[in-house]
This record gives sequence, C-alpha cells and structure tokens, in this order.
Amino acid sequence: MEVFVTRKIPQAGLDSLKKHVEMEVNPHDRSLSKQEIIDGLQGKEGLLCLLTDPIDEEVISSAPTLKMIANYAVGYNNIDIHAATRQGIPVSNTPDVLTDTTAEMAWALLFAVARRIVEGDQFTKAGNFSGWAPMLMLGQDVSNKTLGVVGTGRIGTAFALKSKGFNMSVLYTDKKKNTSLEQEVGAKKVPLHELLKQSDFVSFHVPLIKATHHLIDERELKMMKDTAILINTSRGPVVHEKALVKALKKQWIFGAGLDVYEHEPSIEPSLLQLSNVVMQPHSASATNETRMKMAVMAAENMIDGLEGKKPRNCVNPEVFRH
Ligand code: DGY
Repeated sequence: MEVFVTRKIPQAGLDSLKKHVEMEVNPHDRSLSKQEIIDGLQGKEGLLCLLTDPIDEEVISSAPTLKMIANYAVGYNNIDIHAATRQGIPVSNTPDVLTDTTAEMAWALLFAVARRIVEGDQFTKAGNFSGWAPMLMLGQDVSNKTLGVVGTGRIGTAFALKSKGFNMSVLYTDKKKNTSLEQEVGAKKVPLHELLKQSDFVSFHVPLIKATHHLIDERELKMMKDTAILINTSRGPVVHEKALVKALKKQWIFGAGLDVYEHEPSIEPSLLQLSNVVMQPHSASATNETRMKMAVMAAENMIDGLEGKKPRNCVNPEVFRH
C-alpha cells in the first residue's frame, strides 16, 4: 500500500504511517496544485490531504486505486464527500484533538479586539507611549457581557463553556438544543437574528455548507450592536468579506477577530488597512501539541481505512453499509 501525503505534517504522524505503508510526501514547502495532487495520487491507495487541497470529483475519479482519504483537519468542506462515497472511499477528519485549541484562539481574538491588544502593542513599540492618559486605547469590557455562539458543536460548546470565569450571559444558535451548555452556563437557544441583535460578542463555529455560506451579510451585520465584536474561526465564506469590510469601515460594529477568510489565502485588501480588525493566518489549531495529535490521528485513520476497517473518525460511514 502507498499513501500520498500532500504536505509534510508533524513527524509523529509520518512515523505512524511508515510502520504500515509506503509513502510519498510532497517535497516542497508549499501547497500543491490540483494537477500535482492528481499526478501524485496515481497508483496510490491512500491520500492524506490538507484543508487547502481541493479534493473534488475530478481528483477522486482520477485515482482508481484510491481506497482511503484522511483529511488533516476537522473541517472537510475541501472534499467532495458525495464523490468519495460514490466511489466507496471512506473519508476521515481530525475532531476533538483541536477543540480546545481552536476555542482558545476564538477567545484570544475576542480579547485582542475588545482590549485593542495589537494596536496597543504597536503603539507602545513605536515609542508613542508618553504616559497614562484617561482616553488612551479605550476598548470594551468582556466580563458581564452577552456572548453569542453560532453553532454549538464540539468547538462552539468548548468556546461557550470557557466563558464561565467572566460571568457572561450566553446565547446560542443551533439546530439542536445543547443541554450541557444550558445547564452549565445557563445558555439560551435563540434564532440567529435575535442573537445578532442582543450579543456583545458573536463567535462563529459552524461548518461550511450551502446553508452557512454568507450566513452573515450586510443585513445581518446591520442588526448587530455598534459596540459588537465578530469572531470567525470557522470558515471564511460564512461571513461575506466585502460586507464585513463595509461594516468595519462604517463602524456598524466595533471590530472583528478573524482567523479565516473568504478566498484564502487572498484577503480583501482594504481589510488589511483597518485597525479594528485582528487577523490570524488560519492558525486556530496551530500549537505543537495539537498539530502532533492531528497528525497521529490522520495516520491512524488512514491505516484503519487501508486495512478495510471503519476509521474512528469516518465522516461518510455509509460506505461501510452494504
Ligand atoms: C480545521 O481543522 O478545520 C481547522 O480549520 C484547522 O485550523
């Protein structure tokens, strides 16, 4: 069996793979083009890929030997799951191990925007601090505010639970009732528009599917408080980026903390000029510990799939129903 790995992942994952299979790892320190992925896949049984790799029907059907796809991410909107399922190929992701890490990034962004941490850092390092001043760098309190959580799966729930120390009112939007959140932080399930109107901080934790594409557009941004902060660590296209730029420029909201962008790695140029947005390079899961666990998890899923077993984190288990 041979696995094509589209980009070098932490060594622990490669070592796990090496014990069971042959592998070819992208030798470059860059993402591969679709054609390079197709070329690399030829004759391979396994594909270990990243969220930046477009694994569409063309890629999947170009590899008749392919038996297993392990995505090195929890989100798998980069893969055409229906095409994989039609070809009987299990697909896996890397949930749980990055839950707290991603939730922590959402909080880091929330604090950075609310307390103007990046602006303050730049101002101070530029030598502009000439003494304490009553009106210098005024931001927003976090404690005792209303937190709006859009999507309360694993990461949204962890994010909301971490509000415990800040005595916040928690609102959430999800298809399902989240009993643990309701019990542990007194969270209240409300429709999205209600959440947008009432929340001081709105954080997105939804997967990117048709129904969540541009979930937040001009109309929704106008519903938010002018003191509100928007946090997105989910997927860029959930928020219409051009509309967000307008909202930030016109100060319909106080600020935004972003880890993801609508057309990654491109970013709306005017977003880069704004001081009321704090930006990260899609690095919410980027800690040594978590990336190592993701690598081992992806490798274990791959090995199970190639051995004909159902991978622990299979996202299309219907391929195993005969
Ligand atoms: C994921 O795994 O989907 C995250 O976006 C990685 O940061």
